[in-house]
Amino acid sequence: MSLSNGNNLKQLQLRVQFYSMPQNEWKKLRPHFPGYTSGLVRSEPGKFVMNPLYGFHAEKLYHMQPRSDDVWLLGFPKCGTTWTSELIWLLMNDCDTARASGTHLIFRTPCIELPFLTSEIELSPQMMNLLNSIEKMESPRVLKSHLPFYLLHPDLLETSKVVYIARNPKDVIVSFYHHTKLVKRHNFQGTLEQFAEYFLEDEILCSPYFPHVLDAWSKRHHPHMHFMFFEDLKRDLRGEIEKVADFLGQTPSDEQLTKITNHLRFENLRHNDSVNNELGKRTGFMNKDGNFMRKGKTGDWKNHFSPELNSKIDKWIEKNLKGSDLSFITELDQQD
Ligand code: A3P
Repeated sequence: MSLSNGNNLKQLQLRVQFYSMPQNEWKKLRPHFPGYTSGLVRSEPGKFVMNPLYGFHAEKLYHMQPRSDDVWLLGFPKCGTTWTSELIWLLMNDCDTARASGTHLIFRTPCIELPFLTSEIELSPQMMNLLNSIEKMESPRVLKSHLPFYLLHPDLLETSKVVYIARNPKDVIVSFYHHTKLVKRHNFQGTLEQFAEYFLEDEILCSPYFPHVLDAWSKRHHPHMHFMFFEDLKRDLRGEIEKVADFLGQTPSDEQLTKITNHLRFENLRHNDSVNNELGKRTGFMNKDGNFMRKGKTGDWKNHFSPELNSKIDKWIEKNLKGSDLSFITELDQQD
C-alpha cells in the first residue's frame, strides 16, 4: 500500500513513501504488539518504521518550517531525549528551574511527531490543534523529534541549531524493551530476547537504529550541530551542560550551572512531575507497573543479556559500525 501519490510527492518534494509492513512480517509482530491496532508502515527508501497515521501525514512534518532561533533536539527513542530536552530548555530559559517545574515538559519542548503516535488512522481535531500550537509557539522554541534528518525539513540544519543525543545500543534495547511494556500504545507482550530480535531486524518503531545515528554522526562538524552521548552526561553532567551552553551561546553563571546540574540529576529528575511522565499513569497512557525514569544508568544491559544474546549484539554492532569512526561506550567505571 502506498500512502503517497505522485502529485503530493512532486509538490512536497518528500522523496519517501510509506508502505504497510509486509503481511509475513506483520503476522509475526502482531501478537507481541497488540497495541499497534492499525499495523505499522515502513518508508522506502530509508525503511523507517512508524504507525500509519504518521505515514499518511509525513509531509506535514517534513514541511514544518524551522526558525533561525529554534533549537531542535533529535535522537533515537530511549537515548535520553527527555533529559536533554529539559537541559536545553533550562539553558534557553535563564536556568529557571521553578518555571520548568511548573509546566510539563511536553508543552515546553513538544515532540513534533507526538500528534501522530496513535493507532487512529485519521488525525483528530485535537491532534491537529496540537500540531498547530507547535507552529505558533513563541520563539525561541525548543522542539524535539525522533525522526531522522531526511524526514525533517531539508533546511533544518542550515536554519536552526540542532542537538543530537546518542546512546549505546545495548542500553537502548533494554530501555526500549521496558518502555514498550510500560506504554499501553505499544503493550509489548514478549520477552527481552524477542524484543532484541525485532530491534536487530529493524522492525521496532523508529528503526533502523544505525542509519539514524550514523547520519547524524556524519553531520557532527556542521556549525549548527552539537552531537552528544548519554554516557558522557553520566560521566560528567556539568561538563556536558557547559558544552551545550557554549553551543547555544548561553552563559549561565557558576551558581546557575550548579543549580541546573543538580536539577538534572537522575534522583531529582525522577521525582519531578513535570518531566518524569508519571502523568501517563494518571491519564491511562501507561501501565501502573514500572517507571518512565527507570534506572538512568549506563551498563544496565549486563543485568539483562545472556552471553549468547550479548555476543549476537556485539556482532551486529561491529557489522554496522564497520568503516565508521563512531564508537560507543557500554560501561562506565564511574557514573552519577
Ligand atoms: P533507562 O530506561 O535506561 O532508565 P528518552 O527520554 O529518550 O525516552 O530516554 C529515556 C531514558 O533516559 C531512560 O533510561 C531514563 O531513565 C533515562 N533518563 C532520563 N533522565 C535521566 C537522568 N537525569 N539521568 C540519567 N538517565 C536519565
